[in-house]
Amino acid sequence: MGVIHIKDHHGGLHKIEAIEGWRVMEIIRGHGFAIKGLCGGACACATCHVYVEPLWSEKIHPARDDEEAMLDEVPTVADNSRLSCQIIYTPELDGLTVELADAA
Ligand code: FES
Repeated sequence: MGVIHIKDHHGGLHKIEAIEGWRVMEIIRGHGFAIKGLCGGACACATCHVYVEPLWSEKIHPARDDEEAMLDEVPTVADNSRLSCQIIYTPELDGLTVELADAA
């Protein structure tokens, strides 16, 4: 068990428990945050868009082509954008910090 830090749409910072093997999108949603995750993690909607704190970007596996292609469709994409359904939580990500994007 570890934690993820979430910056919400209003700038609030929250520490939530993470579960190994779960998608970060599922963990965030499971704690009641307003993240849609409409496609359920199929990399087909981008409603799980988050901004990863730059310190953590290099610790997460790079985005695959299908994730990059989906992010390219997002108007608010940034260098540190990721689809949180494509990040599987592992103990190495204990302390991960992400900010919920507006469309998430
Ligand atoms: S939940 Fe649809 S792309 Fe992540």
